[in-house]
Amino acid sequence: MKNNLYEEINLPMSRDDATKKVFEIYKTKNKTFIESGTFLGNGIYRAFSVGYEKVYTCDINKEFVENAKKNFFGKDLIVVNEPSEVAFVEFLSSIDAPSLIWLDGHMMPDENGEIRPYTVKENLEYCPLVKEIDIIKKTKIKEHIIVIDDFKCFGTWLFDGLKFETLSNKILEINNNYKFTLYNEEIMVCHF
Ligand SMILES: C[S@@+](CC[C@H](N)C(=O)[O-])C[C@H]1O[C@@H](n2cnc3c(N)ncnc32)[C@H](O)[C@@H]1O
Repeated sequence: MKNNLYEEINLPMSRDDATKKVFEIYKTKNKTFIESGTFLGNGIYRAFSVGYEKVYTCDINKEFVENAKKNFFGKDLIVVNEPSEVAFVEFLSSIDAPSLIWLDGHMMPDENGEIRPYTVKENLEYCPLVKEIDIIKKTKIKEHIIVIDDFKCFGTWLFDGLKFETLSNKILEINNNYKFTLYNEEIMVCHF
């Protein structure tokens, strides 16, 4: 353990493969996957490919939502064009068992560090993690697996300056037994 807060594991594979592996390792009994940030549908694809049976996802960009509906037609997928602060209230109210929640719905910069305008919305913060954790905290299930992408963005403007220590304290308020493991320097898993 490199620090007191989290353990670090490096899987000898690409970040994409490591993400998929994490989804597989931490799949819960109900095989349900909940995501913020649909984007091109890679999260949905990975989830179904490692055996999730039901997927909920949301994005502020209508085009991404419509594409996901087309690309995963016939799958048990609920995809809505809402920010996570709205969608998660709906999603989590219909969940009655621990599930995997993939928190990845945030503003995206381009290669030059410029904000991609189609990944932001007026009156919404760049990074909704605090609101998402607050919603999870209000629901009755206290054992969801929470996976947060882009760990290196903590403490930067990309995450509105949010520090992981601040968020992990909020997560421990949901359940004091959460443990934290960081995979491949970027994928933070909050588990038991
Ligand atoms: C990093 S991408 C998501 C990648 C995807 N989850 C995957 O696994 O491939 C971030 C996405 O979050 C969306 N987004 C930004 N703010 C959001 C919010 N408040 N709620 C939901 N989605 C949001 C952006 O439009 C963008 O499509």
